[in-house]
Amino acid sequence: MFSERMKAVSTYALLFVMMYICLAESKHIWKPSPASTTTQVPATRHRRSSQGKARAAAIGYGDPHMMTFDAQEYDFEGYCSYVLVKDCLQKSFKITADFRGQYAPNKPPTKMVAITITGEGIPEIRLLEDNTYSIGGQLHNNTRKTVNIHRDWGFITVRGSRPTVNLTGLKLIVIWNGGTHRVRINLDNTDMHGHVCGLMGNADGNPDNDYIKPDGSIVYDVNEFGNSWAVPGSCP
Ligand SMILES: *[C@@H]1O[C@H](CO)[C@@H](O)[C@H](O)[C@H]1NC(C)=O
Ligand SMILES: *[C@@H]1O[C@H](CO)[C@@H](O)[C@H](O)[C@H]1NC(C)=O
Repeated sequence: MFSERMKAVSTYALLFVMMYICLAESKHIWKPSPASTTTQVPATRHRRSSQGKARAAAIGYGDPHMMTFDAQEYDFEGYCSYVLVKDCLQKSFKITADFRGQYAPNKPPTKMVAITITGEGIPEIRLLEDNTYSIGGQLHNNTRKTVNIHRDWGFITVRGSRPTVNLTGLKLIVIWNGGTHRVRINLDNTDMHGHVCGLMGNADGNPDNDYIKPDGSIVYDVNEFGNSWAVPGSCP
């Protein structure tokens, strides 16, 4: 009789577990996350960089299409400010981008409208949508001259209409074009490769591990990855 009861109990338990799995499954299938209903499912394409080496150049443009240092391509339509790349071990530098909606401030499609470069000792550099820029809060509008970033951090030149920031000590180049909302970041300091983080990945030569959140975990959802790099308090 005892074993009969056990049999009944275990049958009920099994049924319960199966029902639970079915419910969980259907919940998973029929309730897409809010992120995937409001934005397009991002198309990612893996393109291995040559010899597994970091290309050391990351690009973001348009609405916005991103290509990490390791050539992982994805689209991310946020509307806050996000860390593009920063020194993940120390605070030597951080580059963020302001994303804004093209038609409404907090709705996709979005674009990058400004780039901010900060770092320990570096005066804040802002590259704006009209291709003007500021260093330490001082606006440089329509200058054709090369402007030095004080204390020998480097200089900013305007090529065509595009401001190019050359942080010589950090071996970091940022080329901005507000007209096409395109930014290109060159990370020529090989010591930094693998030690940076943000939307442009870790520059370790492997495109498959680029979606790393600030807590170090790897995710496979581009929206989760992108949102994790939002600058706190920057959402409109
Ligand atoms: C730069 O100058 C132009 C022409 O005077 C002006 O329209 C524009 O608003 C200025 N840019 C900034 C960021 O102040
Ligand atoms: C940046 O500046 C350094 C030092 O002056 C120079 O060697 C390098 O070619 C510059 N890079 C670019 C892309 O202008």
